[in-house]
Amino acid sequence: MKLADNKATLSFSNGSPSIEMPVYSGNIGPDVIDIRKLYGQSGMFTYDPGFLSTASCQSAITYIDGDKGELLYRGYPIEQLANSLDYLDTCYLLLSGELPVGQQSKDFHKLVNNHTMVNEQLQFFLRGFRRDAHPMAVLTGLIGALSAFYHDSTDINNPEHRHISAIRLIAKLPTLVSMAYKYGVGQPFVYPQNNLSYAGNFLRMMFAVPCEEYVVNPVLERAMDRIFILHADHEQNASTSTVRLCGSSGTNPFAAIAAGVACLWGPAHGGANEACLNMLEDIQKMGGISKVGEFMEKVKDKNSGVKLMGFGHRVYKNYDPRAKLMQETCDEVLKELGLENDPLFKLAKALEKIALEDDYFVSRKLYPNVDFYSGIVQRAIGIPVNLFTGVFALARTVGWIAQLNEMISDPEYKIGRPRQLFTGSVRRDVQR
Ligand code: SDX
Repeated sequence: MKLADNKATLSFSNGSPSIEMPVYSGNIGPDVIDIRKLYGQSGMFTYDPGFLSTASCQSAITYIDGDKGELLYRGYPIEQLANSLDYLDTCYLLLSGELPVGQQSKDFHKLVNNHTMVNEQLQFFLRGFRRDAHPMAVLTGLIGALSAFYHDSTDINNPEHRHISAIRLIAKLPTLVSMAYKYGVGQPFVYPQNNLSYAGNFLRMMFAVPCEEYVVNPVLERAMDRIFILHADHEQNASTSTVRLCGSSGTNPFAAIAAGVACLWGPAHGGANEACLNMLEDIQKMGGISKVGEFMEKVKDKNSGVKLMGFGHRVYKNYDPRAKLMQETCDEVLKELGLENDPLFKLAKALEKIALEDDYFVSRKLYPNVDFYSGIVQRAIGIPVNLFTGVFALARTVGWIAQLNEMISDPEYKIGRPRQLFTGSVRRDVQR
């Protein structure tokens, strides 16, 4: 970051001395006012619940322009990456900052493929859960439990440990997600096959059964890989900020990523794809497209507490570029599976059309986000609704790791410790 040719001066109407604060610029995007010395000079904190106007860090990984609807991973537009790279090359880019060339890509694919198995003991950990446990509860447990197996790579301040735990997490997430699924449906676990692609391996571990050969469908394989790419990273969203704050205490990478999984589960965040599909199914049960108008009235009624899941975004005040790519993927998968007339897809398109013309949504700049179509395409592939967020966590693990590693390797980083505006009781004595 570089000092801007600008300064911020904070003055007070009560005559307190004004305070000058430096302004810094990045390469693109808003400048920042450096308030690090504000408390020391004024005895006051800034106040920004939800962090609507707060930059928590400097980062070179992902840039979002919410007004333009632009998403760049290490400077490359998401549209170009989704159409020309696979997920593991995207992982290499997010982790290293550059696209892999020639042998680098092959070596990275091989490295990840050689770490796809998990310790056999983990299946006994899994068996402690009820069969109907939500997969996100299982995954939060399983990923945190990985730190019990890898004592050789838990020192987050050791670059070698950070590298091997990054590879282990990227490689093992598909195995763990499919194990959580198989356990829930009472089918035997399927071991990874290292001769398959990352996405093909995941599909096979999810849907293969011992009684017959499983053949990976290349259209579904490509769609799965694209779903992973679209969810790989997204600047300082809630779960990434959780991973950064958790990792800032120096805890091991597995624990920090498990914290990210737990945060992603929420319906306002990664849980929105599951909530969106449940919403579509509810409207379908109510009568489908003919009931959309009635549903939209509920959404616009503040007291109903009903939201159009998969719509709106803290940063995008334009169409989420991932939603467009996800819709294309949806089209491809439904065509491949002969589901072009899928009622939920038609319902989603009808909802989107109405919302994009309705002043309630237009005035609030509410557009479809990444979660609006991802549930429909995952459901068509055969992934159960309660596993959608697990797939999101699988894909986002590389982004969490890249952001965590960036923070830890920044010599300026400190443990995160926000303050508060205290509105509770003043000091009082116990009366006995
Ligand atoms: C993800 O941060 C990221 O980058 C996240 C993510 C990533 O890749 O990591 O992109 C993934 O989490 C995508 C978002 C998934 N969530 C949903 O689809 C849930 C539905 N969306 C809303 O909950 C909401 O839009 C949020 C949480 C996504 C954003 O909320 P904000 O930025 O706090 O905005 P807000 O709640 O202040 O909304 C502004 C207005 C409000 O109305 P008014 O008070 O101005 O009258 O818009 C309304 C809101 O009530 N509004 C909605 C709405 N989203 C916002 N009204 C109806 N339906 C919605 N979906």
